[in-house]
Amino acid sequence: MQPFVTDVKKIRERARTAMDQGAVTPGYKADREQVIKVLNEVLATEIVCALRYKRHYFMAEGLNSEAVKAEFLQHAQEEESHADMVAGRIIQLNGEPDFNPRDLATRSHSQYAEGHDLVSMIEEDLVAERIAIETYGEIIRWLADADPTTRRVVEQILEKEEEHAEDMATLLAKTSPQH
Ligand SMILES: [Fe+2]
Ligand SMILES: [Fe+2]
Repeated sequence: MQPFVTDVKKIRERARTAMDQGAVTPGYKADREQVIKVLNEVLATEIVCALRYKRHYFMAEGLNSEAVKAEFLQHAQEEESHADMVAGRIIQLNGEPDFNPRDLATRSHSQYAEGHDLVSMIEEDLVAERIAIETYGEIIRWLADADPTTRRVVEQILEKEEEHAEDMATLLAKTSPQH
């Protein structure tokens, strides 16, 4: 392994310039504007997913499905916490999180599909999770080493989405009519 060498003096000097940039230093390697735009798409995706799970939670009422209901609610809350993580990171990057409801659905990677019975609801959730898994994986590869903090935020979220997909696949197997 190469020894870790860095010019501390230079870094100390640079840290004092542009202090209004907060966490964004001259060493930031990514295209900040682009990263903020992509994060706002992730934010929209998370909000749309939270809303969809929220609907499913209430719709599952009376469908004789306490276990499924609890799962929907937990996912809704987790999607909401993902939205918060992403919004927080946008602020650190000196951007503005876009919570405008007008174009949430168009910015979101996944769609807001309602589903009416238990099986179609679980199916729609599984599809949305699989879309999130694909797009977040691409974002992680795109960020690479240019912005490790944003990458780590998206990695943490991706890990959860993979759990969510697994949960939905398991529920689907239990809920679908047996062949
Ligand atoms: Fe999420
Ligand atoms: Fe999810």
